[in-house]
Amino acid sequence: MYKNPSFRTPFDFIMEKTSDNQTERTPLLLITAAIEQGGRTMASLLRKGPLLGITGSAQIRNVQGEGVQTLDQIGQETFLGLFRRSRAVLSVLSEEAEMPEVLPCDEKTSLLVAMDPLDGSSNISVNAPIGSIFSIFRPPAPSSSSPEGLFLNASSPLLSAYLLYSVSTSLVLAFSGETRVFTLDPDTGEFLGDGSPWRFPDKGKIYSTNEAYLPRWEKPLQDYLSWIKKERNPSMILRYIGALVGDFHRNLLKGGIYLYPAEAGEKTSGKLRLLYEACPMAHIARNAGGIATDGKQDILTIVPRSVHQRVPLIVGSVDLVREFQERTGHPL
Ligand code: AHG
Ligand code: MN
Ligand code: MN
Ligand code: MN
Repeated sequence: MYKNPSFRTPFDFIMEKTSDNQTERTPLLLITAAIEQGGRTMASLLRKGPLLGITGSAQIRNVQGEGVQTLDQIGQETFLGLFRRSRAVLSVLSEEAEMPEVLPCDEKTSLLVAMDPLDGSSNISVNAPIGSIFSIFRPPAPSSSSPEGLFLNASSPLLSAYLLYSVSTSLVLAFSGETRVFTLDPDTGEFLGDGSPWRFPDKGKIYSTNEAYLPRWEKPLQDYLSWIKKERNPSMILRYIGALVGDFHRNLLKGGIYLYPAEAGEKTSGKLRLLYEACPMAHIARNAGGIATDGKQDILTIVPRSVHQRVPLIVGSVDLVREFQERTGHPL
């Protein structure tokens, strides 16, 4: 037997959970297949990146004001092309494009996709983990006049996903109340998992944040971090690889808390974008028994005012996020 007969694929997950939702079954299968195909393409390109000369800068800036890497652009073109050919996507909002792109689709059942085509771009040139992040939404009814309005009036995500390109390539899907983890078999191209829902471990001891920014945090958060380092018992360890997908995934598997708070100065709303970074991670965390907050409210209750809106993000194991909330004055 070439593979474990108990293995299941993302196709099995979607089919299992859409037996009473035939309307959205087809677009969800098509969009998930596009994410899988894009994941195979990006994983293959990333493995050979330095040999192909594609790990450098594209010498342009994006709407975020960030320097764009060549692989940011390749990711954008790869996933946008796959969503376009699926005919199951009404519009794509991307970190790498100022406005959402409206696509040719089968109107009656098509869905919205918000994506971060490549997350952790600063890791590309040093062969460190990076990812791709997606949130899939039902279009609001009645559908809004503007492409932006579609995303600003959409409700909580129907399905969220991330790909993690690391030692192996993982695909994590949150759908219908569950979070499931799949691993790419590079020989067959299949994403395989054991078919069971994944839950954050009850106890975690990892915290992930860029401590260089501590001087610009609000005092209660500075006090929280000082308490973690000097007084908390049991003590915690710091792990931070500078890619949300990689830091989140480790904490999902081992138990931990990731923090990208607001800062005085340029990042008064934090750095991470609500619709294609914080929201999908919040959905994946919640389905795995975790919590995501901006420090005051659940990420999934935030109504976006603009498509590239930034929010502070604290996400991870429920006991650790609750402890953060209590110690910083915003008990959940
Ligand atoms: P992106 O590469 O998609 O712009 O996202 C980068 C984000 C996130 O992945 C990561 O956790 C964070 O930026 C790292 O920020 P710092 O370099 O400021 O720590
Ligand atoms: Mn970026
Ligand atoms: Mn990102
Ligand atoms: Mn990105």
